[in-house]
Amino acid sequence: MEIQIGEGPDVEALMHTEEVFEPSEEFKAQANFGDPAVYDRAEADPEAWWAEWAHKLDWAQPWDKVLEWDAPWAKWFVGGKINVSHNCLDRHVAAGNGDRVAYYWVGEDGARRTITYSDLLSTTERFANVLKNLGVQPGETVGIYLPMIPEAPAAMLACARIGAVHNVVFGGFSAEAVRERMETSHAKVLITADATLRRGEPLPMKQSLDEALDALPDMRHVVVVDRTGGKVETPMREGRDVWWHEQMLAADADCPAEPFDAEHPLFILYTSGSTAKPKGIQHTSGGFLTGVSATHNAVFDIKPERDVYWCAADIGWVTGHSYIVYGPLANGCTSVLYEGAPDYPHQGRWWEIIQEYGVTILYTAPTAIRTFIKWGRDIPDGYDLSTLRLLGSVGEPINPRAWLWYRDVIGGGRCPVVDTWWQTETGMIMITPLPGITATKPGSATRPFPGVSAEVVTHDGEIVEQGGGFLTLRRPWPAMARTLYLDPDRFVETYWSRFGREVYDVGDAARVDEDGYFWVLGRTDDVINVSGHRLSTMEVESSLVSHEGVAEAAVIGQNDEQTGQAITAFVTLEGGWEPSAELIAELREHVAEKIGKLARPKRIIWADDLPKTRSGKIMRRLLRDIADGRELGDVTTLRDPAVVGMIGERVKAGED
Ligand code: PRX
Repeated sequence: MEIQIGEGPDVEALMHTEEVFEPSEEFKAQANFGDPAVYDRAEADPEAWWAEWAHKLDWAQPWDKVLEWDAPWAKWFVGGKINVSHNCLDRHVAAGNGDRVAYYWVGEDGARRTITYSDLLSTTERFANVLKNLGVQPGETVGIYLPMIPEAPAAMLACARIGAVHNVVFGGFSAEAVRERMETSHAKVLITADATLRRGEPLPMKQSLDEALDALPDMRHVVVVDRTGGKVETPMREGRDVWWHEQMLAADADCPAEPFDAEHPLFILYTSGSTAKPKGIQHTSGGFLTGVSATHNAVFDIKPERDVYWCAADIGWVTGHSYIVYGPLANGCTSVLYEGAPDYPHQGRWWEIIQEYGVTILYTAPTAIRTFIKWGRDIPDGYDLSTLRLLGSVGEPINPRAWLWYRDVIGGGRCPVVDTWWQTETGMIMITPLPGITATKPGSATRPFPGVSAEVVTHDGEIVEQGGGFLTLRRPWPAMARTLYLDPDRFVETYWSRFGREVYDVGDAARVDEDGYFWVLGRTDDVINVSGHRLSTMEVESSLVSHEGVAEAAVIGQNDEQTGQAITAFVTLEGGWEPSAELIAELREHVAEKIGKLARPKRIIWADDLPKTRSGKIMRRLLRDIADGRELGDVTTLRDPAVVGMIGERVKAGED
């Protein structure tokens, strides 16, 4: 069947790897899950399966009902009361594991901090009191815009402790992106830092936000972490801005964890969809924690007393929420938390960290793997990675060559690779191998997690047993998003309309092979995946158009060896503006300011006009063909067919 899959990887090439890797007997023998019967058990009674996982958590009040499903509205563990931070901290300390390390933190500047569960609990309790002292109420939104420092998970847990809803914004996003997300989530308190470190230099954070903050009249307080020890100028507005360390000194040490309803919101996280307006994905407490602790345990085969786990994502993305903070801490696991870039101060930084802490599990994105391959096909001599026992991948399709390199070079050929498919909206890993059970094929996320039901369907929603189509999820799962913040209609329309109210429309294209294995190919909507991060074409377009010189813009994703996809923008200028190299630089900077550096177009192509249908819709598909130098089919349906020839010339000229 014909489906439009944007610029996904080369499907046929992807599926033509012959290799299949069975779990080794040795791995199987000690794995948390080594018996395939677990799939049948979960399938026979999914609710009982999830309840079994929920029972591993501490509940202040047991639930009356596992699931209430009034499609597409789900409630999990109805009537149950729980405190997420209690489950991530207090209960481990109470069980005598207070001295266990929660995070080995490595700063970009080489600083090291070892944070035990007891340490993290006391920081969290105190900071929860700071939030209370600042007037934060249960259900209120608290913004978090921080570098990867231990204060970030502590701030999240402090919110969870008092029932506040955190809204983390990735530290690489711009002040304007922070402003928009704070405004739309009605945040009254924001936690940030004086600066973040970039290649040894402090980059002001708080100061860069000041203008945006002044445009937020509802922002009562801004709490500022002193990351650099006073090295950057940080103007503090009297009555609004306060220092983290001063507030902590003034706050009480004890803050009991209050139980909240299982469905009490835990966080919102904004993600890109196919419009310019980011979506506030809303997750809840009991179901989310059940889903992430279950998948973290089973997929990464966690034994807390044995493993040192490193998820090299950023806390600003869902991967950081689910698999740096909540999943690992709920499981009492020891993690590495790393602030910096992989190549600062040198390209061996990751290997150094793995060796120093004896990391056993590494979870990262294909974009990082491709970068390492580019640096050299071998790990530089002298680094010992023999403690690694399991490798994970997430964020975008991984091509089989990169998968094999990951397994052979980083994993020394002995570590299973788990390619985990999921989304901000799913909250938890949905399609993945279980390393002690599933035979893996390089490039395939393999099978749905036990209890999860996934199907590939045609345009009409008919199930495709074998072949390509649209990926759907068929059954509620505990960590699923419950709604979009203050926008239930958009939630229904975006995810639960195309194939009916009972079927979750993922927005990805996928194929199922003869063994029932899933191969996720990429997005079917106008979302570009840059380095594993979702950006909407529309969001980038509207930021371009907000520049005074730009009349119109169209944005597409093009394959990129390093970042998976890269942004190409076609720009039409206002009268009186001339194309120039300086203007290209200015527009890229403009997008960086509006959204963040990640969204900067790699390529800008000037166009006198854009190819449009007679009804005025921009034909992005045609732009992709032009940019990639492909043959163009029939263009007579265009309002002005001459436009494509003209743009084609520009593309060619740019390549010369
Ligand atoms: O297109 C899929 C891709 O990333 C999207 C989800 O992006 P986000 O919500 O930002 O979450 C990223 C981290 C979970 C998906 O719709 N994606 C994610 N993981 C994979 C993937 N594509 C292929 N294989 C994966 N393992």
